[in-house]
Amino acid sequence: MVSRIIPVDPFDLVIFGGTGDLARRKILPALYRRFRAGQMDEQSRIIGAARTELDARGYREMVGEAIGEFGGGGAEDARGLQEFLDLIDYVTLDARGETGWPELRALIREGRVSAYYFSVAPRFFGDLAQQLHKYGMADGNCRIVVEKPFGRDLESAKLLNAALARHFDESQIYRIDHYLGKETVQNLMAVRFGNMLFEPLWNSQFVDHIQITVAESEGVAGRGEYYDRAGAMRDMVQNHLMQLLCLIAMEPPAKFDPDSVRDEKLKVIRALDPVRPGNVVRGQYEATETRPSYRKQVENRDSATESFIALKVLISNWRWAGTPFYLRTGKRLRDRASEIAVVFKDAPHSIFGEEAGRHRNILTIKLQPNEGIELGVTIKEPGPGGMRLVDVPLDMSFAEALGPEADAVPDAYERLIMDVIRGNQTLFMRGDEVEAAWAWTDPIIAGFEDDAPPHPYATGSSGPDEALALIHRDGRRWREIKA
Ligand code: BG6
Repeated sequence: MVSRIIPVDPFDLVIFGGTGDLARRKILPALYRRFRAGQMDEQSRIIGAARTELDARGYREMVGEAIGEFGGGGAEDARGLQEFLDLIDYVTLDARGETGWPELRALIREGRVSAYYFSVAPRFFGDLAQQLHKYGMADGNCRIVVEKPFGRDLESAKLLNAALARHFDESQIYRIDHYLGKETVQNLMAVRFGNMLFEPLWNSQFVDHIQITVAESEGVAGRGEYYDRAGAMRDMVQNHLMQLLCLIAMEPPAKFDPDSVRDEKLKVIRALDPVRPGNVVRGQYEATETRPSYRKQVENRDSATESFIALKVLISNWRWAGTPFYLRTGKRLRDRASEIAVVFKDAPHSIFGEEAGRHRNILTIKLQPNEGIELGVTIKEPGPGGMRLVDVPLDMSFAEALGPEADAVPDAYERLIMDVIRGNQTLFMRGDEVEAAWAWTDPIIAGFEDDAPPHPYATGSSGPDEALALIHRDGRRWREIKA
């Protein structure tokens, strides 16, 4: 397989919040890797902008350190790194005042793509949009990139959308959900719509239920303040799990273009049933001998925020009526393991009799780590003893199937930033999609308020026992969480 890197035209990228955590951990290392891969050349310019008093030299040093720490660049990359640092500039800027704006304007080159990455708290989005407009940077060549959280409920998301819409067209706004940039998540669409095999079976007639699991083994250390205000529902379900659900459940778009795909996702969100409190289980991790509890980590001993959530979700449309989707996500679970399992119904009649047992096909799409696809099929157990059946996996690891190419796959941020420059919005959320997701999420969160506090669960477990009961009572079981 030959890697096909399509270089992008020279561009200007401004990172507001350029000294922040996301810029250092993700955005700058991603740009560096794309530079080294030859996708962007030395004509492009990356401009950090933040309140911190720094000059370009100081910022370049900071970027060099960040890449050393998060970018995987060793000594042998020194030349590539120096060339990359030559692209970098910095302005000290006040989002709400006038400081730095004329200087920033002077750095932007006319007639080429300029992208403005809002890697700052959402309360600054409106100010940045306004200043970009005021200083003549909000022209037709520009795009803005905004990070999650996009609001904390429907009302705040609407306000943010309105603040951005005052100065930018929807086609210029790139709302990031980094799950959409993951290679395996894009693969969901390739598997569904590139194969004849699955689509005819992809409905409630053949699918018993679907499980979506995004399990993490780490806790919330270092992000306690943000996380305790968000919880798993806002932090993960409203965006990442919702996107996975949409890609699994949507109708085939007529084309793989931004609006065709996003129209279909939106229809799924609008078809979601409200979730009754009885179909939600929340949990919070406890301490171990060596690791602090959730409450200790967020420094709030009365916190009723969930670090785990499981939900039973129903979609009211022709394709899915009657097929439940079980979603779960949480911190400090047994393993870091994310997958989607499509559990097919039993064969309508067994010709092998009772003793052959009950067997089911399960298609598992493993998102991370060890990306791949596994299809459980039923075969005869070898040897004498009659017709005894056994389930075996048809197991395909992408790393094995694709060889070294699989390792060279860009990470989500690399892919998404290059899409911004190319002007491709397919993997970004549209404003109406985000609002619809909040409209579904808000009543579920409102239901927490009358609810008991989250159930405690042990670090390294699969979440609270009540989450097991959520699916057991339907005569089903969760799949094991394992990497
Ligand atoms: C982020 C959440 O959006 O996604 C984090 O805020 C979470 O809480 C992270 O840990 C998970 O991303 P990934 O790529 O590690 O699965």
